[in-house]
Order: sequence, then structure tokens, then C-alpha cells
Amino acid sequence: MKTTHRLLYGDSARELKHLEKASISLVVTSPPYPMIEMWDGLFQGLDPVAGEKLERGDGNSAHERMHRALDRVWGSLEPVVAPGGTVCINIGDATRTVDGIFRLYPNHSMVGRRFLTRGYRALPEIIWRKTSNKPNKFMGSGMLPPGAYVTQEHEYIMTYRKPGTRVFGTDDDRAARRRSGYFWEERNVWFSDLWEGLHGERQSMKGTGPRSRSGSFPFELAHRLVCMYSVMGDMVLDPFAGTGVTTLAAMVAGRNSVSIEIERGLKDAVESRLSRAVEFGNDYNEDRLRRHARFAAESPQMRYRNENYAFPVMTRQETSLEIPKLASVDKVAEDTFLVGYA
Ligand SMILES: C[S@@+](CC[C@H](N)C(=O)[O-])C[C@H]1O[C@@H](n2cnc3c(N)ncnc32)[C@H](O)[C@@H]1O
Repeated sequence: MKTTHRLLYGDSARELKHLEKASISLVVTSPPYPMIEMWDGLFQGLDPVAGEKLERGDGNSAHERMHRALDRVWGSLEPVVAPGGTVCINIGDATRTVDGIFRLYPNHSMVGRRFLTRGYRALPEIIWRKTSNKPNKFMGSGMLPPGAYVTQEHEYIMTYRKPGTRVFGTDDDRAARRRSGYFWEERNVWFSDLWEGLHGERQSMKGTGPRSRSGSFPFELAHRLVCMYSVMGDMVLDPFAGTGVTTLAAMVAGRNSVSIEIERGLKDAVESRLSRAVEFGNDYNEDRLRRHARFAAESPQMRYRNENYAFPVMTRQETSLEIPKLASVDKVAEDTFLVGYA
């Protein structure tokens, strides 16, 4: 098996127009979050009026304009996502004081409204709870009511399905789907609406990139979504690619990918991360197998046996599942990596 991974640099609203229609089975992405200060400059570049509104203290209009800028990308997704394809968007709400007034800017519901208007079907969202141990995290009037604010320690993974049904019509399609299964005990965690304990990516980019923080989501988050909503050999898209975590997750899970990022200055950081995909991916995948072996050892009631690893599994659907073993990663063109599997 081989997978290809394209990394394009430019504005997704334009670059997506060059992708093949209905070629994308899954989108996993995290846009810049409107009204989070680290992205003000970027939104101002995309829409100078958003910046002017913010400067004048009109937070609501600035927020709306920033979502309009994101909406150009959501609109360009429509032709490339296959019927029945899935779109997963990781986004956090913003809290901010503008013109002396503190308030929440509800990014997740703004994104939700736009996807529903475009005719997508909403699936249950996941709340991803971040690990925070900041001692001074509480905001507002301390121990005296009523002026304190609840701390924001979660983000959302909004999930939408494009109308249409995916058909696994050939023997090869059905075999790929069976190989792409996940473990019963993984299903029980992954398909829950609250995710906790995900280890974050290193955020500091000082001296290695064009901005001080990456804004990355955890590898585990992208990898779970790729395994939950796509099949080996599918094409996964990230139109806000950042440091390339979705690309890496696709490589490790045996999917193809295309990623688009507007900030060309991230290219070196992304490529250096991807060049280590074999070692990183095999460690990660072996750990996944070890965790299952431990679970199996503690679960004597398992009735089935996996045909690739000969270890017991809980259900018949896990009997053909296979965890990819990466053999090579090569840059074969200016914008393309090829991954070989053992
Ligand atoms: C929250 S970060 C994504 C982080 C990414 N998930 C990662 O793991 O590194 C959002 C990214 O979207 C990029 N971006 C913003 N607007 C864009 C656009 N119109 N087209 C392509 N990329 C864009 C930003 O430069 C930024 O790197």
C-alpha cells in the first residue's frame, strides 16, 4: 500500500477550486478562531473591515465579518466533498473584553448555523476538554456573586455529513472498510461526546516559525477523527493545515491527504515533522496494539480472533482490522509526499 500527501500553500477559498470534484471523503480541520487575539492580524488581512470594526469597539460586527471570511472556505468545500462525506471542525468559543465589555463570542454556533444553511446534516458534536492547570484561571468577581465567569476549558468538534450515501459497492471497497475497523474499546471512548486527557501539541514556535504559537490541535484528536470517519485509501482534507497534524494523522492511519495553508512560512516546520512520520507513526501504532493486547488480557470473554495479529477481539467486525506499519516517507515533488507501508 502507498498513500500520497499534497501540501498546498495559498488561500483555501481559491485553492479548493483546483481539487477534483467529490474527491474528499473527510475534512478534519481547525480554522483560526474569530475574536481570539492571536488571529486578529490574519483576519484583518483577509477582511480589513473586520479589523476596522474591532478597532472601533464593535465586537459583534467584527465577529460576524471574521465568520464571513471563514465562510468563503466553507463554501469552497461544497463541490469537493463527496456525497455522504464528513466534515469535522475543531473550534473554540472566544471570550474577550471589547470596548470595556467582557463577553463570549460563540464561534461554534456561528459555524453550525452556516453548515446547516448549506444543507449539511449535523451529527452530535464532541466537547473536547483541555487539560488546564493554571492557578489564576478564574475570572471576574472572585468569591462574591454575581460577577464571576465560568472558565472556558473546552473546545468543540462540530461534525457535519454532506447529503448522500456512501456505497461500498465492490469487494475491494468492502475489504478496505473491514481493514479500517477500530477496536471495541476504542469505539467506546472515541464515540463519546466528551473527550478528556488528550495530550496537547507543543504550542511554542519561537524561533522556528512565522508566529509565536502554532494553534495546533493534538495528534490524537486528528487521528481519532480520521479513523472514525474514513477508510484506508480515502482522501482526507485539511483546508487550515497549520503545522500539518492532519497530514501526519492521515499518514499514520493509511489515508491519503491534501492540506492547504495560507502561511508559507510554516513549510519547513511541516516538512520536518512529516520527515519523521515513519518513526513517530510506528511508535504510535505499536502503542495502539499494545493497549489492545493489555485490554484483551484483562477481558477473558472475547470470542473472536483477529486474522492479522491472532489476538482476541470483542466483535466479528474487528477480525480483519489492520493497523498500518509505515516503511518509508519520501518527498517526491515540491508539494507531494509518498508514504510506503510494510
Ligand atoms: C488554528 S490553525 C490550524 C492548526 C492546525 N490544525 C495544526 O494542527 O497545526 C489555523 C491555520 O489556518 C491558516 N489559515 C487561515 N486562513 C486560511 C485560508 N483562507 N486558507 C488557508 N489557510 C488559512 C492559518 O495560517 C493557520 O495556520
